[in-house]
Amino acid sequence: MVFSELLKTRRSIRDFRDQAVPQSLMDDVIREACLAPSSGNRQPWCLSIINDRALINRLSDESKQNLISRIEADPDFYARQYEAVLRDPDFNVFYNAPALVLVGAEQTLHSIDVDCALFASYLMFSAANKGLGTCWINLGRDIRAPDLLETIGMPTAIRIVAPVIIGYPAHIPEPPKRNEPKVLKRN
Ligand SMILES: Cc1cc2nc3c(=O)[nH]c(=O)nc-3n(C[C@H](O)[C@H](O)[C@H](O)COP(=O)(O)O)c2cc1C
Repeated sequence: MVFSELLKTRRSIRDFRDQAVPQSLMDDVIREACLAPSSGNRQPWCLSIINDRALINRLSDESKQNLISRIEADPDFYARQYEAVLRDPDFNVFYNAPALVLVGAEQTLHSIDVDCALFASYLMFSAANKGLGTCWINLGRDIRAPDLLETIGMPTAIRIVAPVIIGYPAHIPEPPKRNEPKVLKRN
């Protein structure tokens, strides 16, 4: 696909077909995401790749529970706007996707948010180019329970930056409206 077409084709997908993502395809997408730039070419990202829906569901419940605790402790916490859905036991923050890639990095390094975001962005474009759908799920990164962290292979020194769900889209929504760029000045 021509790159400018791909830019328009990628959408956040929240409705997936009941079809697993083949491991070889997932590996290709991840290999292409590794082409992302990073500060000092440090490539600090590390991944937990989950293809088990029951485990993804448990991670959703864990993240929801931790976000609700933070909302209760801090009235200004950003996720308060999502409180109603977070309290809905039927709401899965990962939209029942067949696969989830958690992108994280050693938290003591600098630039990990930017580097992991670039990785995730390459991942989403690579996936879209191969007919897959993705969505970055910020509401799904609050995973703290030691048993779950161990199950997904995440040491506590790693901070999860970008949870990205992946699967075959059941429905591709219309693009949300984009604003004109705010150009402050042209000299
Ligand atoms: C940093 C970041 C966090 C996001 N978190 C969520 C999320 O928790 N849940 C969700 O449904 N979508 C989430 N999204 C997807 C955005 O809502 C989406 O990118 C935006 O509405 C534009 O739509 P598009 O990706 O189809 O162009 C997130 C996107 C980004 C970049």
